[in-house]
Amino acid sequence: MQSLLTGVERIVYIVKEENLRLWAAKYCALGGRIIGQRADIDTPASVTRALRRVIIEFPEFEIELQAGVNGTQDSSLVAEVQKFGEHCLSRVMLRVEWAGEHIQKFRAMYDTLSMWEHAPALHDKIKLVSRNPQRLWNEDAQQAASLKRVDHLTFPVPVDQMDSRRAFWEALGGEAQEVKTVGTYPADKMILQGIFFNKGVPGKEFGIALVAGIDGKEELSQLTKFLRANGPDQVQHVAYDVGDMAVFCSHFTTIGGNLLAEPIVAPDGAVQAFGWPYSGRNAAVGQYPEFLAHKIGKGVNFQQVSLDELHAMVKNASKRKPRQLFSNCPPPSRARTQP
Ligand SMILES: [Fe+2]
Repeated sequence: MQSLLTGVERIVYIVKEENLRLWAAKYCALGGRIIGQRADIDTPASVTRALRRVIIEFPEFEIELQAGVNGTQDSSLVAEVQKFGEHCLSRVMLRVEWAGEHIQKFRAMYDTLSMWEHAPALHDKIKLVSRNPQRLWNEDAQQAASLKRVDHLTFPVPVDQMDSRRAFWEALGGEAQEVKTVGTYPADKMILQGIFFNKGVPGKEFGIALVAGIDGKEELSQLTKFLRANGPDQVQHVAYDVGDMAVFCSHFTTIGGNLLAEPIVAPDGAVQAFGWPYSGRNAAVGQYPEFLAHKIGKGVNFQQVSLDELHAMVKNASKRKPRQLFSNCPPPSRARTQP
């Protein structure tokens, strides 16, 4: 089934004002182009929402960096960074094809989904938008960009909310895969529900991974720790398609990037690598990027073996002194919560 949702159009992250330029420079070093910069700080009445923003374009998506303005103590953005850590995900804008006979029905269904009452955080996080029609990249520029498109988003959920979250994504046209129980008891055992959109349709496929931790008697799963630290309906990681992993890794290292461990190869030939958390927080509770290179002809990827290995990596990394995603970024302020 083809869905009207055809990908991730924009990811909005919140950073500290003093780090805004630095993050923008990192995304430019990864091949992005700044297409907009704005400061909304002049209206006294809106001081709680005073912000600076930078929008960076990649071949198939955009990143928007927002920063609350220092000195405005009640800035909601400053509060969010204090709560969730530097470079925390604010919202995801999903691309919708607003044409065709089904769109009115889809819009009405989306606005009246009964689950909104029970999932205000998710309602705030997911927005539907059109594709930016101005985004034109020639082949050379696409090749040069390290981040091409968003492959999938991973949401940790409590076990008892797995069904309702799966139903939400199915209502939007996603195809749920068979549920799997993966990992090793107690800390890493979890339920994985993959949901594909437009599987096999070039340029329009992406995925949602729902993961629920199964706690041991004495030890909490990593996913439970993440939920406790970050609250409900937060994205744990965004997976970016990087094209060629060897080329990506070489460049990423050059610009000061730090991976959690060496890239791993999935059974279908896809190669995956995970970055340290953006905020420098403990690897079990921080948000971090995944970098992914598909074998030609394959699509969205979140496989059992990758999740097993990812959790082993996080476990090992959690025992080490946290590193930052970029070694030449300023040191983070102390993490809010440690498990
Ligand atoms: Fe992933």
